[in-house]
Amino acid sequence: MAYIKNKMTDNNSKQYKLGMIGLGTMGRNLLLNMADKGFSVTGYDKDHKMISKLEEEGKNHNLKGFNDIKDFISSIATPRTLVLLVPAGPIVDSVIAELKPLLTKGDIIIDSGNSHFTDTNRRVDELEKDGLHFFGMGISGGEEGARFGPSMMPGGDKQAYNVVKDILNAIAAKVNNDPCVTYIGPGASGHFVKMVHNGIEYAIMELIAEVYGILKNGLGYSNDDIYKVFKKWNEGRLQSFLMEITTEIFVFKDGDTGMDLLDQIKDEARSKGTGKWTSEVSMELQLPIPTINEAVSNRDLSKFKQLRVSLEEGFGKKDTKIDITIEELEDAFYFSMISAYAQGMHLLVQASKEYQYDLKLQEIAKIWRGGCIIRAKFLEDIYQAYEKNNSLEHLFADEGVQNIIKGTLNGTRKTVSACINAGLGIPAFASTLTYFDTLTTGRMPSNLIQAQRDFFGAHTFERIDQEGVFHADWNKLS
Ligand code: 6PG
Repeated sequence: MAYIKNKMTDNNSKQYKLGMIGLGTMGRNLLLNMADKGFSVTGYDKDHKMISKLEEEGKNHNLKGFNDIKDFISSIATPRTLVLLVPAGPIVDSVIAELKPLLTKGDIIIDSGNSHFTDTNRRVDELEKDGLHFFGMGISGGEEGARFGPSMMPGGDKQAYNVVKDILNAIAAKVNNDPCVTYIGPGASGHFVKMVHNGIEYAIMELIAEVYGILKNGLGYSNDDIYKVFKKWNEGRLQSFLMEITTEIFVFKDGDTGMDLLDQIKDEARSKGTGKWTSEVSMELQLPIPTINEAVSNRDLSKFKQLRVSLEEGFGKKDTKIDITIEELEDAFYFSMISAYAQGMHLLVQASKEYQYDLKLQEIAKIWRGGCIIRAKFLEDIYQAYEKNNSLEHLFADEGVQNIIKGTLNGTRKTVSACINAGLGIPAFASTLTYFDTLTTGRMPSNLIQAQRDFFGAHTFERIDQEGVFHADWNKLS
């Protein structure tokens, strides 16, 4: 048994308040964060190296690390609170199977990984039979967030949430003294909301990448020039965590070559899948989120490197120089970013109805203002919009947001059309604008689709002037 020599345990008891399973980067840092806030906590990992790391980094803290699961479990006060921070997927099930015989009724397991919400639903049901509480909690903010204040999205059994509420409030990031954590709702709602957070994250990252492409290939800017543009933008309405880190990337030098590291990185993006899940669910719920979808697809398209190179040869390299101003590009980015958040929020509205999550969108916007990867100045506007009207169907329906959007449309149209004319690929920008144009169109050409379906398949159609469903004898020549 390896363990850390702890200075003291909780109120002279040998029982720890909470146990963390998985002492990788996220688990270890979250545990250290809890210990910082005065909680007596313990951690378990199969890997001795992880215990040593915790021992080293937490030597001045009231915490303990185990690599014997039985000793670990018996060191925690009952009913036990266990937090899992292990890779999503089958590992979560195997850890639960290992834990189950050691647990007693009333114990709580909190899965803090990026688990698929349907897995969380299944696990809640399975563990309920044994009298165990299981709830899913999305955590955002990466290593830094886990250590010094993440944004957390716990959902599931409210009673179980109340047991850990104080710890979560203490370790969360704070915005205007408000902790970036709230009870999200029943069932797997915590993991669902985290998944949508990641979908928005994908969309904003893609938009930023397209801005980079426009500045570089459309306007001929160097990395240093782009750094200056981003730095300036990040001081204004576009301020966000993703802008902040991206700004730094443009001037980061490669230790080996002394060149800009960005230029040495392959243009093939990877992903762990949460963005794809968001797109899949949106199809399931029939709730369009095109900016997020394009972000997912474009990561996938980027992987076809050889095909792209050979097709560039086949069709000829394009002259992608465009003539737009930086202000117009800034408008286009602001508009598209707003739309990405709006689509994510719209999906949450639909999921809340479909899965009876009873989501409070103002609360979700509130806890995304700090700690998480998509934190941004604009989240304050989103929060205010839902605070004013918590049954707002779509963010575009808020008057304040409408006024902002109206001010960005000229620049957006100029940017998107210039890129399209020059053959500069901007899938997220283009689909975002056309989503807006469609959503703000009272009568779409979809009547024709109804007519076509009825023509070839007698699927019937509805009329604008009469109730009921109708079928026409389309083959009859007029
Ligand atoms: C967060 C992030 C995090 C996510 C990574 C990687 O909120 O801290 O969303 O949970 O796992 O960003 O995601 P991809 O590998 O899918 O890009």
